[in-house]
Amino acid sequence: MNKLADASTLVPEQGGGLAAPPSAEPFYLPAHDEVSLFEQCHHNKLAVMLKGPTGCGKTRFVEHMAWKLQRPLVTISCHDDLTASDLIGRYLIRHDRTVWQDGPLTAAVRAGAICYLDEIVEARQDTVVVLHSLTDYRRTLSIDKTGDVVQAAPGFQLVVSYNPGYQRMLKDLKPSTRQRFVTLDFDFPPPDQEANIVHQESGIAPAQARALVELAHKLRALQDRGLAEVPSTRLLVATAQLITHGISMRRACQVALLAPLSDDAALVGAMTDLVELTFP
Ligand SMILES: Nc1ncnc2c1ncn2[C@@H]1O[C@H](COP(=O)(O)OP(=O)(O)OP(=O)(O)O)[C@@H](O)[C@H]1O
Ligand SMILES: [Mg+2]
Repeated sequence: MNKLADASTLVPEQGGGLAAPPSAEPFYLPAHDEVSLFEQCHHNKLAVMLKGPTGCGKTRFVEHMAWKLQRPLVTISCHDDLTASDLIGRYLIRHDRTVWQDGPLTAAVRAGAICYLDEIVEARQDTVVVLHSLTDYRRTLSIDKTGDVVQAAPGFQLVVSYNPGYQRMLKDLKPSTRQRFVTLDFDFPPPDQEANIVHQESGIAPAQARALVELAHKLRALQDRGLAEVPSTRLLVATAQLITHGISMRRACQVALLAPLSDDAALVGAMTDLVELTFP
């Protein structure tokens, strides 16, 4: 028989990966109205899905919002071996007794944290389904093994990320899951903003940051010519960091921008030509 446990009565043995809100503001340059939309979702207890390509700022955004809303942040990377017990918790044998240990989701529910499930689509359906009661009016988590139903503490919010272009089709989220989330679309920022991010994150000169972003736009146009993954803001920041620390433009682009994108010699050759055109 289930009983409704007050968020404070079942104290987890360990914190389950709870991170206090960052004391310093994580730098995040908004692209649109995502900050105010997220704040409204938080205040209205709505779960949020961030949809967008790799390296476009989703994780940084969540870190920034956890700071802004002063909530602890729990991040969980989803994969197809992730079980409901990995999220919720399990009994452990300690010396001569059995103790319950909260998983990271349960810890987040009790603490009123923001719980960020990265790449939700990688998780198995039977794992995803445990989230459902947390995303509607109930805001509860059932712990079958202990028989408890935990009411989410104020401030708890579920956030998931989803990269729609990535090895999909076979795997997708069920409508009953998708329709539980307010969905914010993310993409690479407009050129001026992206250059600003690259400059601020790496310390590279603004003109060089702009040149890197211009190059990224040319490379992103190669998607139509078979480039499966386009260069992300993350790759631009990494390239700029190498340049700032004395590596030449061309060499930095080769190792941090081109090589991570493709093994195809013809494609890498075409991309190298673009680098040489941009940085003669
Ligand atoms: N709007 C932004 N403001 C500040 N930094 C940004 C922004 N967008 C991207 N970045 C930079 O790009 C890097 C990668 O972003 P982030 O890790 O948030 O990507 P992601 O969308 O979570 O990628 P993935 O899907 O692979 O997890 C950040 O570490 C940061 O340096
Ligand atoms: Mg991320």
